[in-house]
Amino acid sequence: MYMQDWDIEFSHLDAGYGARRVLRDVSAILPAGKISVILGESGSGKSTLLRHVTGLSRPLGGMVRIGGRDIFALPPAEFRRLRRQTGVLFQDGALLGALNLAQNVALPLSEHLALPEHLLREAALRVLAMVGLEAFADYYPNQLSGGMRKRAGLARAIVAEPRILLCDEPTSGLDPVTAARMDELLLSMHARYPEMTLVVVSHDLAGFRILAEHVLVIRDGGLIFAGTPKSLLDSRDAYLRQFLERRSGDAGQTPHRPMNHRVHAELVKWLTS
Ligand SMILES: Nc1ncnc2c1ncn2[C@@H]1O[C@H](COP(=O)(O)OP(=O)(O)OP(=O)(O)O)[C@@H](O)[C@H]1O
Ligand SMILES: [Mg+2]
Repeated sequence: MYMQDWDIEFSHLDAGYGARRVLRDVSAILPAGKISVILGESGSGKSTLLRHVTGLSRPLGGMVRIGGRDIFALPPAEFRRLRRQTGVLFQDGALLGALNLAQNVALPLSEHLALPEHLLREAALRVLAMVGLEAFADYYPNQLSGGMRKRAGLARAIVAEPRILLCDEPTSGLDPVTAARMDELLLSMHARYPEMTLVVVSHDLAGFRILAEHVLVIRDGGLIFAGTPKSLLDSRDAYLRQFLERRSGDAGQTPHRPMNHRVHAELVKWLTS
């Protein structure tokens, strides 16, 4: 399959888990060669949407098209080819604890290509250098910080030079400086591979301002905004304003129940003992 146009298109997509519907009637385009950012509250369905681009989950209704073709109607060989062209940085990095960084990063190649060990390592070192981790090639994931694991996850996602790169919360859990570095890294990836379609899921508004060329906002499983960052920032919609200004909307309505008096008494005893 040769795809000239790698636009990702959701057409009346319904998605969920078993009988549980998480996304409803989502129609939108993530343009090829651009950085799209998907924003939304926790639990709104962002990761679920990405799972449908990777082909990990099948829609309950509607379609996901890439290059104009329904990816779930592709012949199996073409579907596999498409998946090879898709790199994913998972929300938790998803590195394997039993493998060192070089082996983790080389996985997308070592699983499928018949290459000698030294070439796999060379390929891994090449992308580890791009994310500033070449010196840590022989470290195991549990010997690294959260930010380093995310960068290693990014190296693994790009080792096969995919046409589509999906990043689920690349900056969550990172301090602001490390988060900004991660955003810069994604921008430099984009400069190096200008044809790559980048999709970044985030609730980091700082990152959205730096990265986004196109934005989707999901609320409770429905698409409520698609457009340029500028038009989002200019929007007068009350919810979007609240989201952008980081107000919680229902603060003050958090239900408050007093602690059971026996639990409280025991707690005080323990804390003051
Ligand atoms: N494997 C699963 N099985 C059943 N329900 C799931 C599964 N994964 C997610 N969900 C449900 O789908 C809804 C959306 O989850 P999703 O992970 O897509 O949200 P999200 O927008 O990525 O949130 P976050 O910002 O916290 O990562 C949630 O209500 C969640 O409980
Ligand atoms: Mg998520």
